[in-house]
Amino acid sequence: MNPRILVVFYSATGNTAAPASSAAEGARESGAEVRLRTVAETAPPQAIASNPRWQAHVDGGPHAELATLEDLEWADGLAVGSPTRFGGPAAQLKSFLDTTGGLWAQGKLADKVATSFTTASTAHGGLESTVLAINNVFYHWGAVVVPLGYAHPHLMDSGNPYGGSFVSRKSAAPDKEALDALRLRGNRLATLTGYVANGLRGRVSPPE
Ligand SMILES: Cc1cc2nc3c(=O)[nH]c(=O)nc-3n(C[C@H](O)[C@H](O)[C@H](O)COP(=O)(O)O)c2cc1C
Repeated sequence: MNPRILVVFYSATGNTAAPASSAAEGARESGAEVRLRTVAETAPPQAIASNPRWQAHVDGGPHAELATLEDLEWADGLAVGSPTRFGGPAAQLKSFLDTTGGLWAQGKLADKVATSFTTASTAHGGLESTVLAINNVFYHWGAVVVPLGYAHPHLMDSGNPYGGSFVSRKSAAPDKEALDALRLRGNRLATLTGYVANGLRGRVSPPE
C-alpha cells in the first residue's frame, strides 16, 4: 500500500510555501498519496498590513486547504514547515500543533514518520533551532524523526542535517538548489514512511 504523506506548513510571505510544495512533489514522485495543507492565519490585520509582502500573500490566498486533525490521523508520515520567527517556529504553526493533544492522548500520533523544514532570512538566525523545536513535538508524539543527514551529495549544497532549510536573505525566494533538496527530502520521507507503515500494517498482534 502506498504511504500517505501530509505536508503542513505556515508561510506569511511565500518563502516557506515553495519548499512545502517541493516536499509534496518529492513524496508524490516516490508513489505516495499526498495532502498539502496550511494552517490558519491568526495574526491581527494591523500586523499583516504592516508588511506589504505579508498582506499581498494573504490577499493572494488561500494557498492550500487548512490542515485538520483528520489529516494528521490519516497520514502515515508528515513534513512540517514554518518560517523562523525569533529563532523558533511561527505561532500560527504552533497553534495547530497545540490542538493535537487529544490525538496524542489516544496514542494516534505514535509511529508517524516525521520531518521538518524552515526558511529564515539569515544563515545564523535560527534555522537549526527552528527545525529542532518542531522535532521536539515529534518526540512527544512518539513519532519516528527523519533527519536528512547528508544522505545525498546534493544536500552538501543546501539545507542542514537536522531539517530542510533555506536562507531567504533580503526576501529572496527559494532557489532551485533549495527546492531540489526539499524534493529529495519529501522523497526520502515517503520511502521511509512506506517501510514503517507497511511494517505496522503487517504486524500480527501489537505489543502489549
Ligand atoms: C516576526 C519575524 C521574526 C523573524 N525572525 C527571524 C529570525 O529569528 N531569524 C531569521 O533569520 N529570520 C527571521 N525572520 C525572517 C523570516 O524567517 C524569513 O523572511 C522567512 O523566509 C519568511 O518565510 P515566509 O515567507 O514563509 O513567511 C523573521 C521574520 C519576522 C516577520
